[in-house]
Amino acid sequence: MLRQCLRWIRAQIVKKAEHFLLRVLSTGPVPQHVAFVMDGNRRYARRNQQAIVQGHTDGFAALRKLLETCLRLHIRCVSVYAFAIDNFKRSPEEVEHLMNLAHEKLLEMAQHGQILEEYGVRLNVLGKTALLPDYVQESIREAESLTRKNNKAILNICMPYASQDEITTAVQSAVRKSLESDSEDCELTEDDISAQLMTTLAGSPPLEILVRTSGVKRLSDYLLWQCSENTQIHFCNKYWPEFGLFDFIPILLDYQRKIWRQRLS
Ligand code: FPP
Ligand code: MG
Repeated sequence: MLRQCLRWIRAQIVKKAEHFLLRVLSTGPVPQHVAFVMDGNRRYARRNQQAIVQGHTDGFAALRKLLETCLRLHIRCVSVYAFAIDNFKRSPEEVEHLMNLAHEKLLEMAQHGQILEEYGVRLNVLGKTALLPDYVQESIREAESLTRKNNKAILNICMPYASQDEITTAVQSAVRKSLESDSEDCELTEDDISAQLMTTLAGSPPLEILVRTSGVKRLSDYLLWQCSENTQIHFCNKYWPEFGLFDFIPILLDYQRKIWRQRLS
């Protein structure tokens, strides 16, 4: 009983501290667009002697929590790498679990009274969605349409995604547009290609921070074009399911320091 009571008091203190920290941080400059490569779910599961699929389930719980943190900080756009095109090569059991998770959770988050409605978030699923099973495509269409009118923030779930595929598609669209136009000038510019990226078409602002968890220092074909000279890239050693507010705070402080320095110079 005493132990339960102490646990409850501790949880309340942590909650109050989180609330206070978020309020303080949101008074400074906050990035408009943050992206996460949610890596390390399987290593996290193995380390805890759990089934691999449990790692992904816990990974979704971490995503839900961190999304709320970002929304409370008034970050306008959050993008996450939920499934690479290459991930179809994983075991059928793991792929099926991730598909079921997407099917169930995306619809759940978009329902009346749930997080996306509460914070006015529009959901976009970006990638070669035609490769997904029909039932997942159907739930994506429904979840996207339920949130279509939300205009306070954007959540881009990238699945199944690869930057090289996105850039190739963007170049093809830009060429098509140029050929269809009456203009004499048929030279493509960077802006023409940027305008056709999935993230741009989904209304995303420029990417300011990209975080990859699990200690791996690669971009793994994620948002390669969007990582411009102004994007801060952070590699964090924690596995994704254990990444939370207290890991995100130093990244935000680093961003705020950079902005203050720019404003003072
Ligand atoms: C990378 O860790 C993670 C994934 C391939 C899946 C990410 C998905 C989620 C966090 C939750 C699902 C969310 C939705 C919306 C479906 P890994 O599997 O590469 O783990 P490892 O690096 O330890 O091998
Ligand atoms: Mg991995």
